[in-house]
Amino acid sequence: MARGRRPLSALCPGALTGEGRAVDTTGYGETMDRAHGLGVSVLGITSPNPPVGAVALDARGQVVGEGATRPPGGLHAERVALVEAAGRAHTVVCTLEPCNHTGRTGPCAEALIEAGVKRVVFGHSDPTSPAAGGADALRAAGVEVVQLATVEGALAGWLHRQRTGRPFVTWKYAATLDGRSAAADGSSRWITGALARADVHVLRSQVDAIIAGSGTVLADDPALTARDVPGRAGERLLRVVMDRRGRVPATVRALGDGSLHVTGDHDPADVLDQLAGRGVVRVLLEGGPTLAAAFYRAGLVDEVVAYLAPALLGAGPAAVGDLGIGTITDIARLHLIDVTRIGEDVRLTLRPAPRKAA
Ligand SMILES: NC(=O)c1ccc[n+]([C@@H]2O[C@H](COP(=O)([O-])OP(=O)(O)OC[C@H]3O[C@@H](n4cnc5c(N)ncnc54)[C@H](OP(=O)(O)O)[C@@H]3O)[C@@H](O)[C@H]2O)c1
Repeated sequence: MARGRRPLSALCPGALTGEGRAVDTTGYGETMDRAHGLGVSVLGITSPNPPVGAVALDARGQVVGEGATRPPGGLHAERVALVEAAGRAHTVVCTLEPCNHTGRTGPCAEALIEAGVKRVVFGHSDPTSPAAGGADALRAAGVEVVQLATVEGALAGWLHRQRTGRPFVTWKYAATLDGRSAAADGSSRWITGALARADVHVLRSQVDAIIAGSGTVLADDPALTARDVPGRAGERLLRVVMDRRGRVPATVRALGDGSLHVTGDHDPADVLDQLAGRGVVRVLLEGGPTLAAAFYRAGLVDEVVAYLAPALLGAGPAAVGDLGIGTITDIARLHLIDVTRIGEDVRLTLRPAPRKAA
């Protein structure tokens, strides 16, 4: 099955089940889901541009074109769908408001008008200037415009980056049923099964950067690549090693081509700002527990993906280090977005609950 056709939830956990999923009263909900699936299929290759999906329908409502954002400099999703539709597009359903500015490609709103599209259904408003205003331009040209409340899906990272200026951080870890991320001797490889490990490679292929701490790199020497994901060589993936005391030698596998060795004292926020400056939109934080705790305490974890194995260790480090929580009333709660069985393991996708005001 082509990646764009795989169920959205298989590639972007929680994309279909996220909060705020509204009841569809427009009749375009299924087509919007299809457009979201197309956006998911290009996660990790469009940054700093948004991973948008678009579906073109003819006057009878039949799909005549599909598109997803091409890598920077290439066509936007709406244009790809219009090319495939070859003049038959009556309605275009897209996950993001069509852009209204001339960047490396012309405005999508103009392309839709020129193609004679009668109706545009979009999910999220474009918060960026000068790209915003596409809906108004379409309306001014007599095109019917409908905004459909929908999940953020593949756009979650990009929308977060527009709102906060920082990349969207997914903290991923694997643990036993008793929450251990490594054995007492520090070994942690293969807590989960082969299918869960393959799923991690898909997660890596959907981000722009992976961050690991010196403790993990020294203990496991991980390559931090997205191997074995069809069509994704992972050549755009930036591997970041946070190594305060400069203990990590340049010979480790994570510090090969396309890597950033951050030494000296630095806040997680500073590192994320540095990555934002390099066009990074989505980050996978692969720990270990000390670095995960530092990001969590700073309020910089936006999503958690936990792989839980049906196994016990009884001793060894916990999945996350000290969060500064001394009493149960301060417990850090998360919202459960998705639960998926992967082989013998379970993948949980969660979002941290808003923190209580001090
Ligand atoms: N099961 C899993 O999912 C998983 C994932 C990753 C790792 N692990 C396991 O976790 C163990 C390693 O744990 P760990 O906690 O030592 O690894 P870690 O979190 O990867 O590394 C911790 C180190 O990161 C450095 N660091 C750089 N900037 C920092 C900052 N702003 N805040 C805090 N630390 C910063 C510190 O180095 P300095 O000491 O120089 O200050 C710190 O000692 C290994 O056994 C590994 O196998 C398990």
